[in-house]
Amino acid sequence: MKARAGIDRAFRIGEVDPRLFGSFVEHLGRAVYGGIYQPDHPSADARGFRGDVLALVRELGIPLVRYPGGNFVSSFNWEDSVGAPGDRPTRLDLAWRSVEPNRFGLQEFLSWCGEAGAQPMLAVNLGTRGIDAARELVEYCNFPSGTRLSDLRRSHGAESPYGVELWCLGNEMDGPWQVGQKTAREYGRLARESAKAMRLVDPQLELVACGSSYPAMPSFPRWEAEVLDECYDQVEYLSLHSYYGNEAGDRMEYLAAAEGMDGFIRSVRAVCDFVKADKRSGKTMKLAFDEWNVWYHTKAEDRHEAPWQIGPRLLEEHYTFDDALVVGSLLITLLRHADRVKIACMAQLVNVIAPIMTEPDGPAWRQTTFYPFLHASRYGRGISLDLRVESPSYDTKTYGSVPYLTAAAVLDEEAGELAIFAVNRSPTEGLELDLGLSGFAGWRVFEHIEYRADHAAARGASQSRQSRPGEEAAPGQELPEGDVPGRCLPGRRLPERRSDLPSLQGDRLVAGLAALSWNVLRLSAPARSE
Ligand code: AHR
Repeated sequence: MKARAGIDRAFRIGEVDPRLFGSFVEHLGRAVYGGIYQPDHPSADARGFRGDVLALVRELGIPLVRYPGGNFVSSFNWEDSVGAPGDRPTRLDLAWRSVEPNRFGLQEFLSWCGEAGAQPMLAVNLGTRGIDAARELVEYCNFPSGTRLSDLRRSHGAESPYGVELWCLGNEMDGPWQVGQKTAREYGRLARESAKAMRLVDPQLELVACGSSYPAMPSFPRWEAEVLDECYDQVEYLSLHSYYGNEAGDRMEYLAAAEGMDGFIRSVRAVCDFVKADKRSGKTMKLAFDEWNVWYHTKAEDRHEAPWQIGPRLLEEHYTFDDALVVGSLLITLLRHADRVKIACMAQLVNVIAPIMTEPDGPAWRQTTFYPFLHASRYGRGISLDLRVESPSYDTKTYGSVPYLTAAAVLDEEAGELAIFAVNRSPTEGLELDLGLSGFAGWRVFEHIEYRADHAAARGASQSRQSRPGEEAAPGQELPEGDVPGRCLPGRRLPERRSDLPSLQGDRLVAGLAALSWNVLRLSAPARSE
């Protein structure tokens, strides 16, 4: 099959905000206890932070982490999570029907962020609590000194304010599962008044209002319109959440999931712009896609997990190669909307629908989805260029005609590098990509990273639950290669560097994209030697 695409250096979508490669840690399952925090693990430091997890988080270059929920935040009392850990109360977490010992809390998270090199994005509880708790939490975190709460923080060992800038005003407040669910009007007013009070404490804050929990909510997109009608002037971002899966066992439909994300973003943009026009506002609402990922393997099993445990095994998805391809195409979609989507959080980071998994008595290891995220985070920073694609397509029930090829281009002007991210969704045919490059005379390809299904593993991969690390690979399957600390699942290929690099013929580049593959083509400017 052949596909054509083109970019022009002058045709820019917008600057990629590094926070597009954010993540999320919720008090849920083993995300915290046994994930980022496990004092009895051999790699843990004096604070109980797992060093093997931190190393993988740093490898991903995650600039932003959302915390502490998620649904968890809607019945969370922040005061329980500060002060001497031994004095903190044990509570019921109603969202996940777990026991929360509060051994790891706000203080620990904020110092963990320092270790990880990530900016914190804190959520306030607008479920069971409201304006008062929100403004007090901002005072605790950000006010310098001389008040009860700022001095309380200092007495907890944090002399300087934490300076937390980015805050979520609640979580998924439209959802019937949410403790303290609200109507759009109720929530919009509460978000507005909470924002007002929080900003009176600290005028520097950036605030995110809750959009719909997912696009299939019956109230979407009226929820967005009504919420913004109430709080447009008080917030900088509107949130989007969406998870994708292959519950129906239809691979081609599943591989097209990014089309759903694309349509969702377009709709939310349109609603924001409607409210902007309606209010005669000069402000353009930015988007925070602060929960996105693949989530479907474990939903049925999770219902059987016994309630009221500390750190139960919940939402422990073991990802397949198809899942990695879908994650890659979702990242491409986010890059293609980089002018408007300024924040995105892959949900979540460790053990819970996560690219990183841990064994309690063993290593931390990388899932298949780790790799496209790693590549996008590493090479996807700069200016997102408007890459136009003409590709053969296939028919789907949900999205109509879907191109086999989806791709994005990011130019790092300072480094003199261009990265092309491309997914070939065809399970049977390679694609010959003919890419026109205007404004890139003399550039050359210096790397082609390819992540593709090996055919044994690819067959039915989207349906089967995968084995755990340490288990034997089936005969004929490939074991992970290379000297990799942590590992992909047995039988899974790792991404490889192709040796047959394509060259530029004038302003055209012709590259081969294998069937079912994630690709990163990296080009450098003439003067640069890599
Ligand atoms: O990320 C898991 C859960 O999904 C979050 O707690 C919630 O916000 C969403 O429904």
